[in-house]
Amino acid sequence: MKTMSNSILPGTGWDSAVMGRCAGREEAVVGRGAGQRQRSTRAPWGGAWFLLGLVWLASAGGGALAQAEENVLNIYTSRHYQTDEALYQAFTEATGIEINRLEGKDDALIERIRSEGVNSPADILITVDAGRLWRAEQAGLFQEVVSPLLEARVPAHLRHSGGRWFGFSQRARLIFYNKDLVPAGAIATYEDLADPKWRGLVCIRSSSNIYNLSLLGSLIAAHGEAAAEAWARAVVANFARPPQGGDTDQIRAAAAGECGIVVANSYYFARLLSSAKAADREVAEGLGVVFPNQDGRGTHVNISGAGVLKHARHKAAAIRFLEFLTSETAQRIFADGNNEYPVVAGLAPTPVLAALGEFKRDPLEVSRLGAEQAAAQRIFDRAGWK
Ligand SMILES: [Fe+2]
Repeated sequence: MKTMSNSILPGTGWDSAVMGRCAGREEAVVGRGAGQRQRSTRAPWGGAWFLLGLVWLASAGGGALAQAEENVLNIYTSRHYQTDEALYQAFTEATGIEINRLEGKDDALIERIRSEGVNSPADILITVDAGRLWRAEQAGLFQEVVSPLLEARVPAHLRHSGGRWFGFSQRARLIFYNKDLVPAGAIATYEDLADPKWRGLVCIRSSSNIYNLSLLGSLIAAHGEAAAEAWARAVVANFARPPQGGDTDQIRAAAAGECGIVVANSYYFARLLSSAKAADREVAEGLGVVFPNQDGRGTHVNISGAGVLKHARHKAAAIRFLEFLTSETAQRIFADGNNEYPVVAGLAPTPVLAALGEFKRDPLEVSRLGAEQAAAQRIFDRAGWK
């Protein structure tokens, strides 16, 4: 029990590593303090309460305790949106199941679950990018979930074929351009980024970034490794500068004219478009937006997703929560919290995303993005993509 208690109490290093960050690093958290990262739908998680909860979790084994245990769900999540409060509260109100959650950076949470092993109190991991869900699955962190509801509501290409993780919202990787530097209609595909006529104009973040690994994975799936490598080399030759910063930094650099063409996820652009700051809105409104490959396979999309963990103590509650995430109410909150597209058919995105228009999406199985991850990293390294 002592080991378990120690394992869950966040260490100083982990605390500082996760504070207010998400996968994209540049995604600022509003109004969060260090003491607010552990939360519960029952009461704020003070350290003592949390410790008590763990001791209770560790000792629960039968009778009334086992009964009570069914009414708790422990979630590790890299999401940090204030709107998620409403999501958790709606679940608790609908089911009576209280949610405790721990927020952290994606890879740090995966490592934490791995190191906690069988003692991990976590029932569910919520994270972003199929590449990262794939990593967690490869590390053996998830268990199979059989749910006709999830299979019906989440399209097959947006979930693990064996039920180990499911996508609950989608993001598109888009191209943006400075209208003074690039003519309208001159760039239409990811492949166009490699055209020598864009020499010195292209900006995109580093190759270690999971979004780029997944994008290259989609190019490998479409064209094979040799062609994907030729593409990567040609894009590197077009760089305006060595890769630096996050997606929002690329968008701002395009607006500033430092770059002519940039690549960034849709929600970063939508966030600027809907910002309360006029300067942010000006950045986004001045750029050209391209949903790539509309005449071909469609725009590369990725997911935010979740899976039930192998050592989950509250499996039934965990499955109920994943199923709840496919309800219209939850889809709305889950997707809207980060300006993402719902996965359930027939649900519209936020008005700011809807205003960008409907688009054709690459129907590639997103698990393939994970499967190509190692090849993608090798190609980036050989191509000199820092
Ligand atoms: Fe991100």
